[in-house]
Amino acid sequence: MTISFPPDFVWGAATAAYQIEGAYNEDGKGESIWDRFAHTPGKIKNDETGDVACDHYHRRQADVQLMRDMGLQAYRFSIAWPRILPAGRGRVNQAGLDFYSRLVDGLLEAGITPFVTLYHWDLPQALQDRGGWANRDTAQYFADYAGLVCRRLGDRVLRWITHNEPWVVAFMGHQLGRHAPGLTDTRSALRAAHHLLLSHGLAAPVIRQHSPAAEVGIALNINHVDPAGDSEADLAAARRLDGYTNRWFLDPLAGRPYPADMVEYYREQGQLPQEMDFMGDDLPIIATPIDFVGLNYYTRLVARAGGEPTVPEGAPVTEMGWEVYPDGLYHVLNRLHTEYHLPKIYITENGAAYSDGPDETGRIADTRRRDYLRLHFAAAQRAIQAGAPLAGYFVWSLMDNFEWAHGFSQRFGLVWLDYRTQERIIKDSGHWYSAVIAQNGFSETQPHNISGAD
Ligand code: FCB
Repeated sequence: MTISFPPDFVWGAATAAYQIEGAYNEDGKGESIWDRFAHTPGKIKNDETGDVACDHYHRRQADVQLMRDMGLQAYRFSIAWPRILPAGRGRVNQAGLDFYSRLVDGLLEAGITPFVTLYHWDLPQALQDRGGWANRDTAQYFADYAGLVCRRLGDRVLRWITHNEPWVVAFMGHQLGRHAPGLTDTRSALRAAHHLLLSHGLAAPVIRQHSPAAEVGIALNINHVDPAGDSEADLAAARRLDGYTNRWFLDPLAGRPYPADMVEYYREQGQLPQEMDFMGDDLPIIATPIDFVGLNYYTRLVARAGGEPTVPEGAPVTEMGWEVYPDGLYHVLNRLHTEYHLPKIYITENGAAYSDGPDETGRIADTRRRDYLRLHFAAAQRAIQAGAPLAGYFVWSLMDNFEWAHGFSQRFGLVWLDYRTQERIIKDSGHWYSAVIAQNGFSETQPHNISGAD
């Protein structure tokens, strides 16, 4: 059976500034909250940092050539805010703008469409010192920063993503303390979530002003949630997990109020910020019409009463411990289409961590990543057939990189990185992906499942 995609479907790969660039203090760049967090002992596995990472800042041209060799049609990358505005606002660092401008030119010359994320988690530390995302002022600073970047790049970049995964920024960073800035306070997390959404709504018209032909969207990590069992308690846990991770962001973006059940829950817990009532006044700004939603999908969440989400016994998992569950992608795409009526969807991230490295001949036989991608591509194609307006697909990630709190221990790349020499080697999955792009599909000869065995 041949799995094929619509003629104008866009195939790409994604990265983020802090995960690949390195050059953390060069050419006038300011400190980001991830620089600060990673330099704090005990926060990152093996105390690794993104100081050098994939050294992409110095290897930009070779990396664009690599993408061209792989036949990528689009590349999603992020801009480091503190490279542009070292203190988050005020003085502009031209060298930072120049770097991204040259990257964009290089991509366009190579026939690769740039998709630019304005915020992939590296807030200028100077703004964190003033309260960061928990401070409402940061929303306006973000819109100003967006305007500055779009004035420079908006003639050539026509696809803009305001934020990457505001849930992760707000809750991993402010409630669970596992990401920068490392806070553990739900009230701050809810404030941060609100200001992230507000900043998105403030930035969208500013982007359009400087880049009138642009499509503007936001990338969300939407999980498919299932209850562990059919007890009332498990069903309620699933509904809450869905509210916490999905509806809290999707509802206001779609023009609805914050989900009432979750407002009630946070109120009962005494975790609702006092100003929550006023936050409602911002809803029309948050709901400013967007051109697309970016979906980052990796796994499903199985909710159980009174405990953390779980992975069903025997289910295949990646090295992150995330269940491989392609049907979840189908369900989420369908839901975005039928429940939220989104005009357009790009899968802005999907991929898997497996550490396969080169054999004696230098070949990287990462069969499990290829299988993971194949199953998820097929699920996406089924969703398109069912009517989902899916317009493109970005594999996470172009190359192995700094995986946040996991440091370099988790490898998501289509390209393998030797962090000692910075050598890049295209993995088998990367070669296979090139063939998928060239054919705009693939023939499905393998069974529809994935082995859990390592
Ligand atoms: C997502 C992030 C991305 C990467 C993948 C594995 O949550 O957006 O930067 O770390 O997970």
